[in-house]
Amino acid sequence: MARHIVARTSDIPPGGNKVFGVEGRDIVVFHVNGEFFALLNRCPHEGAPLEKAACVARLTSPEPGVYQRSRVGELLRCPWHGWEFDMRNGQSYFDPKRVKVRSYPVAIENGEALQKGPYVAETFPVLVEDSYVIIET
Ligand code: FES
Repeated sequence: MARHIVARTSDIPPGGNKVFGVEGRDIVVFHVNGEFFALLNRCPHEGAPLEKAACVARLTSPEPGVYQRSRVGELLRCPWHGWEFDMRNGQSYFDPKRVKVRSYPVAIENGEALQKGPYVAETFPVLVEDSYVIIET
């Protein structure tokens, strides 16, 4: 699995999202309740951009007239026809076995902990003696 460093955490404000092009795909990253979630930026129904989806709460009703909100902001409501998806795994609520949005694992790592790139310039020690610069090879 290839790793792609796409942004600093501060680039995506709480409650916001940002789209990144990764290997030819548009992936939208949401920042909700202190966590980050990545999904393909395309609704499986007719392809609406999920970056425009409303981030809503899960609403349950244990009995008539009583309802409870939970996981505020973690459910996506598609902007075109209102299908809803779980931001954590892309699963739909109306047909969870057949319809889902592709989701991607997200890791948050300190910059110092990230692996250095594969390209390293060759360097040479430099000594300065009197007025002459000497390069050792
Ligand atoms: S395109 Fe998303 S519900 Fe239709």
